[in-house]
Amino acid sequence: MSLTFSNVHFSHQPEKVVFMSGSLMRSLGLTSRRQIQLRLGRNAISASLKPIERSGKHLYLSSGIRNSVHVPRSGPAYVHMPKDGEIQIGPVVGVLSDGPSSPSSPFGARTAYIKQLLREGNKKMYVYAFAPGDINWQRETVYAYLLSANGQFVRKTVPLPDVVYNRLPSRRTDFSPFTNQLRDRFMKRNISFFNWAFFNKADIYNQLENDVQAGRYVPETYSNPSPERIKDMLERHRFVYYKPSAGSLGNGIYRLTYQPKKGYFARYRSTGGNTLLKFPTFTSLMRLLQSRHGSGLRNYVIQQGIRLIEIDGCPIDFRFHMHKDGRNRWSTVGIGAKKAGRGSVTTHIKNGGQLMTPEQALGRTFGSKSREVLERAKQTAVTLAEAIENHHSHVLAEIGFDIGIDEDEKIWMFEANSKPGRSIFSHPSLRVEGKASVEHIFEHCLYLGGFHRGE
Ligand SMILES: Nc1ncnc2c1ncn2[C@@H]1O[C@H](COP(=O)(O)OP(=O)(O)O)[C@@H](O)[C@H]1O
Ligand SMILES: [Mg+2]
Repeated sequence: MSLTFSNVHFSHQPEKVVFMSGSLMRSLGLTSRRQIQLRLGRNAISASLKPIERSGKHLYLSSGIRNSVHVPRSGPAYVHMPKDGEIQIGPVVGVLSDGPSSPSSPFGARTAYIKQLLREGNKKMYVYAFAPGDINWQRETVYAYLLSANGQFVRKTVPLPDVVYNRLPSRRTDFSPFTNQLRDRFMKRNISFFNWAFFNKADIYNQLENDVQAGRYVPETYSNPSPERIKDMLERHRFVYYKPSAGSLGNGIYRLTYQPKKGYFARYRSTGGNTLLKFPTFTSLMRLLQSRHGSGLRNYVIQQGIRLIEIDGCPIDFRFHMHKDGRNRWSTVGIGAKKAGRGSVTTHIKNGGQLMTPEQALGRTFGSKSREVLERAKQTAVTLAEAIENHHSHVLAEIGFDIGIDEDEKIWMFEANSKPGRSIFSHPSLRVEGKASVEHIFEHCLYLGGFHRGE
């Protein structure tokens, strides 16, 4: 069944009628039809079909149609025929997010990204943004956010989407009973929902550890470790990371080291800045951790520390931004290198880290070999993404990996993010990748919405 790109116009007839140019009719194989079902998102309506004299691919929707299926706007969209006599325009993509909200910035810090999605996505399909409370399940409509011609947010009633892109900002909203019910309701209506929810570090390590392909890229890790386990890891590796399973942005992470003649060291970020403490005994180290987190330590993992490549004495790691493409295959779409700030346990930019291109970062350490190392790391990231997807029971289309490379060129995965941030794309050399990332999202929405490109 062919997929066609068409210009959709609005006309004024009160009847439920669709006009099509000859070229569009022919490419859909509709020349002898008088009646069709028109589908947009979750809405469908019977309409009479009439030819119109015009060259190119054009479709006119009467006001009788628009009033009942809530077409978000005129302009370009894909058209295809999923079943004989059923014409679907779309796909309709809903970007799910949430406040803190103000009229000019309804989605807090994510507003700029959401605007970019609406701007780019609406060049090809119907893309709107919405918060969990914006759905009317009785009417099956959404009171959505769209952009006006001058780039301001406007609210409109639109149909339930074909595909939901989940960018809910916090674990609290992502795992709330209200959001769980919402996911349920989308599932029942066969509406694709990606990504399902935030990942938990312990779950991801557990899944990958036993994976034949991916296991070797995960440092040795234990969740909810006993003090004996932590002590054993320190004695064997001398250097470990102790981190919260549901953490982000480096919050609550400890870099612990053991030097037999000197004692135990803990490096972490506290309100006063980066801190380094020395402990004469293992018990005194554990006391500090207990006093800072108490029973919260149950949700921690202990992980073998990896000696990363360094520039100017500061460790470097990488963000690999992965997407599913229009053919449902994983690819590495953007890579940023992050150099840790001085004294920082992590490479987060917020804690003094510096963003570089992977070529800059690898060139210093591996010289002429760096291209080969990077290619291998890209392959590894695809292997990791496929492995995570295999262990995941829902649709997964975007992953941000934190990946380390050690001096022996070995590749390690520290974290998989299901709502990856976009700070790497602010680097002047990575803007092109940022655009490609957005394009991949919509290419995959076409796939998920059943709008397949030629076989
Ligand atoms: N096992 C490890 N060995 C070396 N560095 C690590 C290890 N685990 C984490 N890091 C460093 O800490 C950073 C943050 O860890 P990560 O697991 O991504 O937690 P967060 O959710 O806080 O981002 C990583 O990007 C990496 O620089
Ligand atoms: Mg991380």
